[in-house]
Amino acid sequence: SLKQDLYGKKILITAGRTVEPIDPVRYITNHSTGKMGFALAKNAVARGGKVILVAGPTDLKIETGATLIQVQTTAQMDEVVEHYFSEMDIVIMAAAVSDYRVEKPAAQKIKKHSEKMSLSLIKNPDILLKLGTKKQKQLLVGFAAETQHLLSNATKKMKEKNVDLLVANDVSRSDIGFGSDQNEVTFLQPDKKPRLIKKTSKEEIAEKIFDMLLSK
Ligand code: C5P
Repeated sequence: SLKQDLYGKKILITAGRTVEPIDPVRYITNHSTGKMGFALAKNAVARGGKVILVAGPTDLKIETGATLIQVQTTAQMDEVVEHYFSEMDIVIMAAAVSDYRVEKPAAQKIKKHSEKMSLSLIKNPDILLKLGTKKQKQLLVGFAAETQHLLSNATKKMKEKNVDLLVANDVSRSDIGFGSDQNEVTFLQPDKKPRLIKKTSKEEIAEKIFDMLLSK
């Protein structure tokens, strides 16, 4: 990119899904592929940013130019993000984080026996919520994937998590979102009107997110 408007800025981006073990061979996860987070990392590097990309397991072969730190669980992602947070200028949480984990993952493969079985899940730390309470100079960006009441749920999240920008997307639509190369999102900012970004590539959305942050 010709514009080096993120030159020297330290940027941390999370991407993809997290994976929570049930036993040595099974796990709980979601459909996130990491495309949005990787597009953000690539755009930020092209504009001169120093980028750390914290990603869950992904099949993407995209060369972003960022420093890639791979994690499995939400707890591991939490640890990495907490470690770097204080030195960052911009933090974007694009990962679809597992909200719960298995309370006691089994050390050995669980055998089948009874007709019914249940897993006990406990809540994971909400990484973004914690960052929102302690941010200082950092610009903080969250994502919200919703299947209904997009604007009201996302507006609530923007406030609760104390973010500077909340990127809301409707994951009930199959033409956009998870796994797709395209997305249609709404930007929500404190004290501003929602702004719809019509269906476009994730690269273009990444570009607009940084444009938005730089205009603050
Ligand atoms: O509350 P919800 O999960 O919908 O909020 C989404 C935003 O919060 C995303 O930016 C996601 O990366 C972040 N998040 C997090 N830690 C969690 C759950 C979500 O940082 N445990």
